[in-house]
Amino acid sequence: MSLRKKITDMTKAPLIDEWAQRREEIRFKTPPQNHHRLFHLLHPKQFDRTFLDQICELTTDIRTLAKTAEGQSHLQKLLAHKRAMLYFTQPSTRTFLSFNNACHILGVKTNEIRDSSTSSEIKGESLEDSIRTFSSYVDVIIMRTLVKGLAENAATLMDSISRPIPIINAGSGKDQHPTQALLDIYTLERSLTHRGGIDHKVIAMMGDLSRGRTARSLAYLMKNYQDVELIFIAPPGFTMGQDILEHLDQHEIRHTQTTKLAHVIADLDAIYVTRIQSEHDATDGSRDINLEDYTLSRSNINLMKNDAVIMHPLPRGPELSPDIDDDPRAKYWRQERNGMWMRAALLIRIFGAENMLYEIAR
Ligand code: NCD
Repeated sequence: MSLRKKITDMTKAPLIDEWAQRREEIRFKTPPQNHHRLFHLLHPKQFDRTFLDQICELTTDIRTLAKTAEGQSHLQKLLAHKRAMLYFTQPSTRTFLSFNNACHILGVKTNEIRDSSTSSEIKGESLEDSIRTFSSYVDVIIMRTLVKGLAENAATLMDSISRPIPIINAGSGKDQHPTQALLDIYTLERSLTHRGGIDHKVIAMMGDLSRGRTARSLAYLMKNYQDVELIFIAPPGFTMGQDILEHLDQHEIRHTQTTKLAHVIADLDAIYVTRIQSEHDATDGSRDINLEDYTLSRSNINLMKNDAVIMHPLPRGPELSPDIDDDPRAKYWRQERNGMWMRAALLIRIFGAENMLYEIAR
């Protein structure tokens, strides 16, 4: 059976007996043995197609096990000997909550700092010393900061000490958001399963593409899929960064840019809408944008294909009207929940607990 067939469609809630069938399949599974080691998780460049397919399958398996009380208590034992530091000094709702709850699902104990004024940074401690201190107490650091490259620096520091622990980048400035990209891939792949997945699809990304790290990371990952066409829809001055465009050129991924959603909307298999990242404004620059041209609402989604996929990393602004929330093509609420399952899968992979996962499921 092909890997794609094995990864079943998670976009619709399956009937109870379908979940039972999935559970039965998991009982006879062994994890793939050709793993490359995942330690630090810093940048989408770390992921190839094999990794993406495997992590999506693991995500589905965790979700399946969590459907029963027995499965939940098995999952709870998997990483009960581990502790995590959630260091989130930049605002976060979904990423923080989904990592926190992924930890809880697997029995990982959590510590958190969400405001650097409550840590010794306020006494002038360097970030390096703070990170090193966290590593004295926990087994993984999950970090989100405003500063580009900080997670990479923390990983370099870890690699130089005698008790290194993994660093997970949970969003770095305007640059990258690799775990969001993975949950986006999972949602996209599942939502398009009945049409062969992401390969050969036309996918648009719309909004503030110059400062939106989620779109940057997701676009980066498209090199792993066959014959994808990307359409970037952004206001002038907020277009996709040259570094990502060059990366796509290198990998021969077709891409075009437009300011006119109306010209392309009927051709799209999926659209990834993002908000204007006004917190990064040096002046009031983004306030002048006429967002109407970059908005999805009831009045224009009628022009989309019947089975197109609508995603958004959230939080949303006016670019995504709540009046489409009930449309079956809107996948963003499922997407945010998928984040919890994907992050649980990543923790299992980082700590090499797949064998145990399938053993306890027997
Ligand atoms: C995104 C982020 O923080 O980059 N949110 C998230 O993680 N789901 C998107 C955003 O803030 O616009």
